[in-house]
Amino acid sequence: MTVTIVGSQLGDEGKGALVDLWGGNADIVVRYQGGDNAGHTVVEGGEEYKLSLVPSGAVRGKVGILGNGCVVNPRTLFDELDTLRERGLDPDVRVARRAHVIMPYHRVLDGIEEEAKSDDDLEAGTTGRGIGPTYEDKVGRRGIRVGDLLDPDVLRDRLEYVVPQKRAIVEDVFGLEAGEEFDIDALHEEFAAVGRRLAEENMTVNAGDFLGNELDDGSNLLFEGAQGTSIDIDHGIYPYVTSSNPTAGGASTGTGVGPTVVGQGEVVGIVKAYLSRVGTGPLPTELDGADEDLADYIREKGGEFGTVTGRPRRIGWLDVPMLRHAARVSGFTGIAVNHLDVLAGLDEVKVGDAYELDGERLETMPATTERWAECEPILKSFDPWPEVDWAAVADDGYDALPDGAQTYLDYVSDEVGAPIYAVGVGPDRAETIELADPFERTA
Ligand code: GDP
Ligand code: IMO
Ligand code: MG
Repeated sequence: MTVTIVGSQLGDEGKGALVDLWGGNADIVVRYQGGDNAGHTVVEGGEEYKLSLVPSGAVRGKVGILGNGCVVNPRTLFDELDTLRERGLDPDVRVARRAHVIMPYHRVLDGIEEEAKSDDDLEAGTTGRGIGPTYEDKVGRRGIRVGDLLDPDVLRDRLEYVVPQKRAIVEDVFGLEAGEEFDIDALHEEFAAVGRRLAEENMTVNAGDFLGNELDDGSNLLFEGAQGTSIDIDHGIYPYVTSSNPTAGGASTGTGVGPTVVGQGEVVGIVKAYLSRVGTGPLPTELDGADEDLADYIREKGGEFGTVTGRPRRIGWLDVPMLRHAARVSGFTGIAVNHLDVLAGLDEVKVGDAYELDGERLETMPATTERWAECEPILKSFDPWPEVDWAAVADDGYDALPDGAQTYLDYVSDEVGAPIYAVGVGPDRAETIELADPFERTA
């Protein structure tokens, strides 16, 4: 059976924490899209792990798979594995042979294109990891796949076709100098060695077959979404998006497990109790202008600084039309709401309940980002809840939550049309109130 974890908003909803919590009942944790643009945090007994590529199940010693829908930077992967080993973990990560490889030139091109777009305010504020250029090459049928690294002749053929084109883009389109990242021999040497290491460590896999066999044997698979619905390439606020499908459909195309299998399982939307955003683009419920002090307060209290880049995150009230959109796109069977503790002690808690656009009330997101930018949030106020001993509340369960927080959660669950499976009241695994284990619901 499968459980799919999906970000409901703009990324950084606390997916890593829930993957860690429910990973206890999983046999295998699978990333199905994205790459090292992700930054997933797991805190266990005060130990903090920040994972960008290794699936979060590694903290619990689960087998991790990077599915075919991922883009893999081998340098990051090996660095992260080495760091985890130095910290005493023994991660077992296998990479789909169909996954695409982020090459050094992809990172360079990511930077160049963001810079060029910034003249027209069209840059997405990417993480600079080369994600977009790698997916472009995948779709353009000129990418390099993990399987290609295993055969030096295939790798050379691929490089000889693609690298001169990349060099020409840098030199002839952008008028810049192409560096060593565009040197075929150097690339071949480095990436053939990557292929040898992957083979020696038995790290590559035909992921779809492997996962299919595991399912036949009764294994529990946890699909770990990265990013979030509103930065999905199809369903997000284009062009201020990432280049993959974090939504639940991606769990099928990005792993080789059929949509009927994913759909028989649970799909859990992870919701942050307010909004945070690294990157550019409109944000109707943003706390800015007169509300900047409040945004600063929430940012500091919630530690809202990018896991990957350290950038301060923009802050907004919960955007409920965004959640309704997310629930439909992915078909949430349940949700987890995190960061309830961060909103404690405010004078007033608000949400964007709907939008006003051209004098009309909208319950969900318009399809173009330009129209979304014109939306005025219709705010709804909630009674605040006090600061309490969250560790004690986490021990005592849902009924121990302050009344105001319960009212807020009931409202969110009603609007999204899905029950609450977990509530986060702090970063640690022990600071999560678990109402349901999705693996037990699918059993
Ligand atoms: P992800 O990308 O969705 O996995 O989320 P990130 O790890 O990038 O960002 C979430 C941050 O919030 C991390 O620092 C987590 O440790 C922390 N966190 C997760 N859940 C909670 C919660 O319920 N309360 C608080 N205060 N922090 C949380
Ligand atoms: P996790 O998995 C938040 C944002 C970037 C930028 C846009 C495109 O930790 O939730 P990219 O580098 O992917 O081409 O950048 O997407 N972004 C994220 N924002 N959390 C993430 O991952 C993100 N991954 C990418 O800031 O706006
Ligand atoms: Mg993150």
